[in-house]
Amino acid sequence: MSQRTPLIAGNWKMFKTSREARETAAALAARVKPDSSREVMIAPQFTALLPVKEALADSPIFLGAQNLHWESEGAYTGEISAAMLTDVGCDYVIIGHSERRQYFHETDESVNRKIAAALGAGLIPVLCIGESEADRDAEKTFSVLDKQIRNGLQGFDLNQVEKLVIAYEPVWAIGTGKTATSDQAQEAHAFIRRTMAGLFGEDMAEKLRILYGGSVKPANIAELMSMSDIDGALVGGASLEAESFSAIIDY
Ligand code: PGA
Repeated sequence: MSQRTPLIAGNWKMFKTSREARETAAALAARVKPDSSREVMIAPQFTALLPVKEALADSPIFLGAQNLHWESEGAYTGEISAAMLTDVGCDYVIIGHSERRQYFHETDESVNRKIAAALGAGLIPVLCIGESEADRDAEKTFSVLDKQIRNGLQGFDLNQVEKLVIAYEPVWAIGTGKTATSDQAQEAHAFIRRTMAGLFGEDMAEKLRILYGGSVKPANIAELMSMSDIDGALVGGASLEAESFSAIIDY
């Protein structure tokens, strides 16, 4: 058994008003009991962060954001800083989700700056990486992952990346109902861990939590979690309802 505590994270994307988010968070808080064998995090949209934090007050569930800007403040209309996220009680922040890369032109370079901002404010970054369907068909999966890791983490030292979480999310499996098979996911996770060992040493890589994301559901979580290098999940659609998300948490 690895010593890594599994992390089950919910990415609520651009769903739910703040009232709906607070209600779902309260329903989850009632179901998720303190359990040292796993951690849970939910990442609602920005205007729901504070109400969700309040709903989670007596709960072990952590709060995460879905994005941030790399500057600490300034004339950046529409953006939000790391300090603004910690101010409302965030512990985690998702960085470089494929939807941000695809629709909002995020690059490995902007991801790198965002990770620096998150770490500087004491937020735990969840760095998302993953290949497209075309990459996989062209057998470029590993080279894409290698590049996203090296460029995304360029310039950081071991102390900085100690708490980092990586989420492997094959783009072709997000919101499509197509899950990577547990063997495909395990193969990618093992590659990511080896790459991180090469960059930051075996010890860091051994402690690194690597989440799988892409159409995770109550029906497939147990098999995914049985793989030796899968340390949790980043869940989109199935995290929106307390019932399905708690079934995933209790896999
Ligand atoms: P999905 O999304 O579970 O709806 O596929 C996962 C994600 O985008 O993080």
